[in-house]
Amino acid sequence: MLEIEDLHLDLGRAPVLRGIDLTAAAGEVTVILGPNGSGKSTLIRAASGDLPYRGSIRLAGEEVASTPPWRRAARRAVLEQQASAAFPFTVAEVVRMGLHAGIEADHDEIVAAALAEVGLADLAQRPIHALSGGQQARAHLARVRAQVWAPCGHAGARWLFLDEPVASLDIGHQLEVMAVMRRFAEAGGGVVAVMHDLNLSAMVADRMALLAAGRVIAAGPPEEVLRDAPLAAAYGCALRVGHAPAGARFVLPQSVGA
Ligand SMILES: Nc1ncnc2c1ncn2[C@@H]1O[C@H](COP(=O)(O)OP(=O)(O)O)[C@@H](O)[C@H]1O
Ligand SMILES: [Mg+2]
Repeated sequence: MLEIEDLHLDLGRAPVLRGIDLTAAAGEVTVILGPNGSGKSTLIRAASGDLPYRGSIRLAGEEVASTPPWRRAARRAVLEQQASAAFPFTVAEVVRMGLHAGIEADHDEIVAAALAEVGLADLAQRPIHALSGGQQARAHLARVRAQVWAPCGHAGARWLFLDEPVASLDIGHQLEVMAVMRRFAEAGGGVVAVMHDLNLSAMVADRMALLAAGRVIAAGPPEEVLRDAPLAAAYGCALRVGHAPAGARFVLPQSVGA
């Protein structure tokens, strides 16, 4: 479980997270929604252990702020919103960076399997900077997957914290990445993903949390969060929630605005 209680976090002098309560379960995909600047990335970074906070964030029952870095690295992997490589490594070298010394399985096999999972096997030896933006995003996802390759380890569930993992991808690759998220959760791992596309979120999420101005204004299964009123309150525009014949929800804007 990821258990967040009364989380407060300031950046500079500004309060960014203002009393967040949220739980996410292993075996499920939890999607974080909310407008630009609502605190989604800050929440991911705090849960990853990368920012000091007030309140409590526990992963596998252990407070994140007092978990040693090596145990955090074995327990969760983080895809940052703007993941990039500073030097012209090959794609395979970038993925290999996700592997830490504690992983006993064959590293070459994990690198190859992680690249295959995101559809980049053919580009393994290319310099990462010679890939398109979307291909680079998938290479970084492969690196993050490699870090927590087995969704369930001897020490329990592992976690993927993904900040906008499908933002720069075409629809085919968006679905491929969502399938990676679902498979990881179905194998017992935990997934927390920041998403902007409400319709894709409705397809992949077991649970959702909708943020606005540093607070959770709706949380629960998609049918509780994807409702006209909380969406309008969060995004400041009129959205209409409909039901597709198969039971899935979809969200359509009412107009392009004034
Ligand atoms: N380093 C920083 N210093 C001060 N304010 C920041 C910093 N980083 C982000 N913020 C502010 O925190 C708020 C939340 O940012 P962020 O978590 O990145 O939002 P989101 O990911 O939901 O778009 C924004 O208002 C942003 O301007
Ligand atoms: Mg963000």
